[in-house]
Amino acid sequence: MPSVLGRQITIERGEGNYVFDTEGNRYFDACAGLWHTQVGHGRKELATTAAEQIEKLETFHLFGRFLNDQAAELSNVVAELVPIENAKIIFNSGGGDADDLACKLARRYWQLQGKRDKKIILSRDFSYHGLHAFGSAIGGLEFNRLGFGGDSLIPETARVSFHDLEAVEASIQEIGADNIAALITEPIIGAGGLYPPEPGYLEGLNELCRKYDILFIVDEVITGFGRTGKWFASERWNLQPDMLTMAKGITSGYVPLGAVAIAPRVWEPFFAEGADTPIFRQGITYSGHALACAVALRNLQIMRDENLVERAGELEGVLAAELMPLHEHPLVADVRVGGFLGAVELSSDIPANVIADELIERGFIFRALPNNALQISPPFTTTEAEISEFVRAIESVLDSHL
Ligand SMILES: Cc1ncc(COP(=O)(O)O)c(C=O)c1O
Repeated sequence: MPSVLGRQITIERGEGNYVFDTEGNRYFDACAGLWHTQVGHGRKELATTAAEQIEKLETFHLFGRFLNDQAAELSNVVAELVPIENAKIIFNSGGGDADDLACKLARRYWQLQGKRDKKIILSRDFSYHGLHAFGSAIGGLEFNRLGFGGDSLIPETARVSFHDLEAVEASIQEIGADNIAALITEPIIGAGGLYPPEPGYLEGLNELCRKYDILFIVDEVITGFGRTGKWFASERWNLQPDMLTMAKGITSGYVPLGAVAIAPRVWEPFFAEGADTPIFRQGITYSGHALACAVALRNLQIMRDENLVERAGELEGVLAAELMPLHEHPLVADVRVGGFLGAVELSSDIPANVIADELIERGFIFRALPNNALQISPPFTTTEAEISEFVRAIESVLDSHL
């Protein structure tokens, strides 16, 4: 990309909340990579688990009669953790995979119910659901959606208001519930600019889905595995998803892995007895990859042993207390915190990517989001002192532009 050519930073090592580049510079990782490393970088336990698993078995597929022990164990662990009773789990390789699968399954489900027009997937303005064909088509960030010819890679999609329930209901009525397969939402909009939900909004979406018989998909690719102080944000907001998608934190990013948890309503039709049991044709080579599942199991054990989910809940308060005073800064337009996630949205006088670059020079990795905000999503192993230090660094860089 011309915008970064000649300025790239090559990271070669990670240790705890820090990464190191090939020049030996150390950076505090205020974004946890791309929102993924709950347990921090360079964990020896995960390296050992990975090496042991590869020596034993790299993987074995889950086609036909076959399973592998790691996938079987992880599916039980995840099914216990998700706030869906009697969930079935399908594994794949990341968040975009998981969202793609959930959208396909929603469409397949309604075809089986004989409701053949229920094909449209609704999603929120500013949402991000990866960049597979479905992810691109349902993303609420227009620049990711356009430019492929036609209005959308998958035409049967539509955006709804990201904060106004009455507007969402009006959209449903206008499109017609008989045409809508599912509504997908991130509990906290992440890559689209970090917007925690308005009070009652997520619960209201869930209710609208029940009222209009629309499947409710919750994308917990960022919020899953502790980000909001609960294993899943759906617990925090009391949601009852028909499908819940996850990735990133399941392995803390040490190995690629994604998954979809599926409620009985959606999986039961595919388990009907008889010769003509319907099939959901979905199987990828690396579904339930044994190495990825072994690392995920160890990662989740570390999170339990070190109480990292509770810790993320505590750190939300620490981050809010440190960050909110930045509201007063003349170059700051808004400050938002939701879970152990934050954003400092800058005024139009100063581009966030310039500030992010200057913070990187000072040894703090931040990222600019599309709404001119700095993304803050540190590992759960971050200390109070480190939070204070990076907030002072943001303040100091902003001061230098006054
Ligand atoms: C909420 C959400 N969903 C889906 C994705 C896509 O995940 P992946 O990049 O693993 O395909 C992301 C990635 O950041 C995400 O934030």
